[in-house]
Amino acid sequence: MSFKRNILITGGAGFIGSHVVRLFVNKYPDYRIINLDKLTYAGNLANLKDIEDKPNYTFVKADICDFDKMMEIFKQYNIDGVIHLAAESHVDRSIKDPFTFAQTNVMGTLSLLQAAKLSWDGDYDNKRFYHISTDEVYGALQFDGTFFEETTKYDPHSPYSASKAGSDHFVRAFHDTYGMPTIVTNCSNNYGPYQFPEKLIPLFINNIRHKKPLPVYGKGENVRDWLYVVDHARAIDVIFHEGKTAETYNIGGFNEWKNIDIIKVVIKTVDRLLGNSEGTSDHLITYVTDRAGHDLRYAIDSTKLKTELGWEPSLQFEEGIEKTVRWYLDNQEWMDNITSGEYEKYYSDMYKNKL
Ligand code: NAD
Ligand code: DAU
Repeated sequence: MSFKRNILITGGAGFIGSHVVRLFVNKYPDYRIINLDKLTYAGNLANLKDIEDKPNYTFVKADICDFDKMMEIFKQYNIDGVIHLAAESHVDRSIKDPFTFAQTNVMGTLSLLQAAKLSWDGDYDNKRFYHISTDEVYGALQFDGTFFEETTKYDPHSPYSASKAGSDHFVRAFHDTYGMPTIVTNCSNNYGPYQFPEKLIPLFINNIRHKKPLPVYGKGENVRDWLYVVDHARAIDVIFHEGKTAETYNIGGFNEWKNIDIIKVVIKTVDRLLGNSEGTSDHLITYVTDRAGHDLRYAIDSTKLKTELGWEPSLQFEEGIEKTVRWYLDNQEWMDNITSGEYEKYYSDMYKNKL
């Protein structure tokens, strides 16, 4: 079967990647979607159970740092588009182990860029290298009503954001030096189904269910700007198809929350859906030592994306958080498989003959 396009999506077994893969596989049956993922602790093929048998979907287990393998994959699948999400993504882990972040996020991105450059060999017609980045590269805002814009100077503070900034610079350098048709987007905090439970929202939902403490860093006053993950995937679709080469687009929903306020919403929603009376789980809030270098506030201005490409979030936050909490409570097996470590074993057994 020949396909209209052969799109390589890296990190497709992770949180955001799995939503992007699902959207593309279902929406574009004439595209072949190759999901390339190393299946680190954060990669989970259970996130894609509903589409794994579709004829336009292929999974490849590989490490983006393995340059020879990347060359092989570009050739084997005749890749003409890349949507690059594979990364180490958790700030707390980057504080403990910065090397892995530099390796995967910087060297891995470089390996993929170089494989694309050599494989495309200067023929950039209908080619696109789309790199998914984060608002954290812009640093931290004060409580002064300002926003990160596409022109905001990079000022990363954590090893995670420094490694993402490094990868963004390499992507832009490949455009400026070799003419590669690249795009970079910087998105705010995502929430929704299939997020690994080391991140704030799924961790807290699970802890409330198990009546475990909810570790709030510092005073809980840091602000994050939250976007429902499916809306991020929709933005990626629009930008991949209609975004202008060499441009940067910020993605966000103008939805800022203080950590402690969002935590209270999560507690209230979980208690209500579990049939507990209001306030039952409030006592689980536990203030702990702050994250080192904890950025005070993130806030994304996504006006450019709305004005130029017509994208805006489809979901109000109240609806999104309700859907999210409900999903985690309804999918306890997914969560329990992760917290018990079972998912890695189950899927490596299941895919033993396919990898
Ligand atoms: P995630 O940690 O849930 O998933 C990352 C995926 O990448 C996993 O499936 C993992 O197995 C894979 N991976 C890691 N190292 C790899 C390697 N060397 N080779 C191949 N695959 C590898 O992350 P996420 O939250 O889905 O984030 C995806 C991307 O979006 C990242 O680039 C991240 O920086 C960016 N981003 C995330 C957010 C957010 O709120 N989660 C916001 C903005 C941008
Ligand atoms: O802004 C986009 C970024 O959002 C992405 O680039 C990252 O990949 C993603 O992990 C996320 O980073 P954060 O550090 O903002 O997400 P996290 O869920 O780890 O934390 C959200 C906020 O909650 C942050 O201010 C730290 C705080 N927090 C987090 C955890 C895990 C707590 O107070 N307690 C916790 O246990």
